[in-house]
Amino acid sequence: MVKKLQIAIDGPASAGKSTVAKLVAKKLGYIYCDTGAMYRAVTYAALKANISLDDDETLKNLLQDFKLEFVPAEPEQKVFVNGEEVTQIIRTPDITNNVSLVSAQPSVRQDLTHRQQEIADNGGIVMDGRDIGTTVLPNAEVKIFLVASVEQRALRRYKENIAKGIDTPLEVLEKEIAERDYKDSHRKISPLVQAKDAVKVDTTPLTIDEVVNEIMNIIEERNH
Ligand code: DC
Repeated sequence: MVKKLQIAIDGPASAGKSTVAKLVAKKLGYIYCDTGAMYRAVTYAALKANISLDDDETLKNLLQDFKLEFVPAEPEQKVFVNGEEVTQIIRTPDITNNVSLVSAQPSVRQDLTHRQQEIADNGGIVMDGRDIGTTVLPNAEVKIFLVASVEQRALRRYKENIAKGIDTPLEVLEKEIAERDYKDSHRKISPLVQAKDAVKVDTTPLTIDEVVNEIMNIIEERNH
């Protein structure tokens, strides 16, 4: 039987990780796990419960009764928090602008890291996030670090927003992305850094298909 691998895809906000990770998982017949959605889901639950977003102790209690489910669906998998569907709401600006604070809390990181390791335990998984190759799955067979220029990432986000009827100026998106990069890279626990054994792929000049092909080639090479 062919060994089922763990594939970690890390990188900054809007570098195209989830789009590419989903396609790679589909090609390989693997599970896809979006760890950013997990941090977003906790942020949603904390805002709903009116908890101060840097109150580590109260967040820890919240997580004791926190049931998170991913349900396969097309065009994207659905996310449920304690039985409530949150797939769309966790992508709204309110969550996006608060998630960095929640994801910097030690109890939240510890809890979600543990859940992620359980999901990945049997291999056959493509997991994307910020600390997958460094902390969550340090022994992953394949580690990719996906980057793109701030301008390019803001432009991609701008086009996605327009398609959804959201009209945020490009300069605002550039500023938000740069701020999130800073927060994600400078937090104390599990900051966004490239794992030593990760392969860096700069997606700025590439199409989605080209990025997917490059990653499939890296997987092929690592697997021989
Ligand atoms: O990939 P995303 O934009 O959906 O991630 C949302 C936030 O969650 C992001 O600001 C950083 C945080 N995150 C994290 O700290 N660790 C991960 N493994 C994934 C996401």
